[in-house]
Amino acid sequence: MAEDMVPIKQPTIKYTQIFYNNEFHDSISGKTFSTINPSTEEKITDVQEGDKADVDAAVRDARLAFKRGSPWRTMDASQRGNIIMKYADLLERDIQYLASLETLDSGKPFKDCVEDVRGSAGLFRYYAGWCDKICGKTIPVDGDFFSYTRHEPIGVCAQIIPWNYPIMMLAWKLGPALACGNTIILKPAEQTPLTALYCASLCKEAGFPAGVVNVVPGYGPTAGAALAEHMDVDKIAFTGSIEVGKLIQQASGRSNLKRVTLELGGKSPNIIFADADMSNAVEWAHSGIFVNMGQNCCAGSRVFVQEGAYDEFVRRSKEKAEARVVGDPWNPASDNGPQISREQFDRVMGFIDSGKKEGATLVCGGKRVGNKGYFISSTIFGDVKDDMKIAREEIFGPVMQVLKFKDAEEVLERANRTAYGLAGAVFTKDVNKAFMIANGLEAGSVWVNCYDVVTSQVPFGGFKMSGHGRELGEYGLQEYTEVKAVTIKLDAKNS
Ligand code: NAI
Ligand code: MG
Repeated sequence: MAEDMVPIKQPTIKYTQIFYNNEFHDSISGKTFSTINPSTEEKITDVQEGDKADVDAAVRDARLAFKRGSPWRTMDASQRGNIIMKYADLLERDIQYLASLETLDSGKPFKDCVEDVRGSAGLFRYYAGWCDKICGKTIPVDGDFFSYTRHEPIGVCAQIIPWNYPIMMLAWKLGPALACGNTIILKPAEQTPLTALYCASLCKEAGFPAGVVNVVPGYGPTAGAALAEHMDVDKIAFTGSIEVGKLIQQASGRSNLKRVTLELGGKSPNIIFADADMSNAVEWAHSGIFVNMGQNCCAGSRVFVQEGAYDEFVRRSKEKAEARVVGDPWNPASDNGPQISREQFDRVMGFIDSGKKEGATLVCGGKRVGNKGYFISSTIFGDVKDDMKIAREEIFGPVMQVLKFKDAEEVLERANRTAYGLAGAVFTKDVNKAFMIANGLEAGSVWVNCYDVVTSQVPFGGFKMSGHGRELGEYGLQEYTEVKAVTIKLDAKNS
């Protein structure tokens, strides 16, 4: 269990260089950047800073690895599955170290990092099983022809990931792409490069041929933009802000029309009817917003509570929020660590100020915890109105907005009045209301009487400006294959 594992509080930093051709390299420019421990605000180490020249080198190797006749292209699909399975085993072998490194670099509670590594291994195993089950169809056609489809890998894929779930995001991206036989250049977030670099070293150990997985740490506007603009990258997958999602799609349009999938966060509604099991609703609504310091793309940040249950919900949620332990992420008693960076801390505190100024009721929290590290107390705003900034914009912090509603029609309309569409939930004992909301929500994931239940098998992704494309499950594979139709003229006399 995660609770029993002992962290390595000062994990040795083994890899800080750029990874391509199954080797670590210094940056071509000679530049480095620092990664900071958000619990202490102190520098952990310097990392080689990749930019365009390093991206070019990594893309060159990824292209070579994808060439017809290369070891990766000629390998049996089942063997590809074996390597991915081995990779999952290596993640579990090194779980104590990897989870510790993740806590150091991201400030996430150690017990959560253990679960993230375990979940990532599970995800790789899920996709390993798919490798030799990715098939096309035979299609009945008119005339003397035989047609079939092949689901072929797209080619060289760039993957840009954020800092909120560093290892999990790496797994979500690499898993399906590798299962389909692509080659990859992954850019971790500049705030959290360390676990991705360690995972890079495991790629070689697992047996991926050189150039199949490449990892280029660096900044967005340099390394990230170079990937998005690259003429020899066939597909780009991105998770992060809407602002950067738009830039990536534009860069694709300006360059080679590389395929684009985007996962861009949300302002997800969580709808609680008065007939719901209130203990259950309070529990899930709490974890739905506060888990991972609120740094969660599908966080249930707009909690709509029906009139009759409003006071009870707010009272019980306040008790739970005040009992949530915010502090040292190495301490097993801590439920939340710090926000990822000074920038995010300031941003979240700015939203809290705005909530107060716009007249929402501060039910609890709203303060910095301690005077070192980017810790924020679990915060609840009541009496929130739809047009307040805290009800419209993604806060990405431990801040719950509670809004009151009267009936199902009204709340559905209000819940959908947003540019986002990543997730949503409904709590009720009435199956008709559950279906009405589940069918009516404009969102890629809907939970009924639970929240944020995300599994490897079930697709995840956004409606509207929360992005396009799906990750996870069988749907996630479609984003990493091209469909080829082959039609053969038959000799009718012999058929
Ligand atoms: P961001 O979108 O700037 O960063 C995410 C990734 O994109 C990082 O790897 C970054 O280096 C890269 N990137 C940045 N600029 C780029 C560019 N011009 N071209 C290519 N790649 C680029 O997000 P940031 O600034 O860290 O956070 C801002 C807000 O974005 C957060 O407050 C939150 O609302 C949202 N966000 C959403 C996430 C999600 O899970 N959907 C994850 C992280 C942030
Ligand atoms: Mg940014």
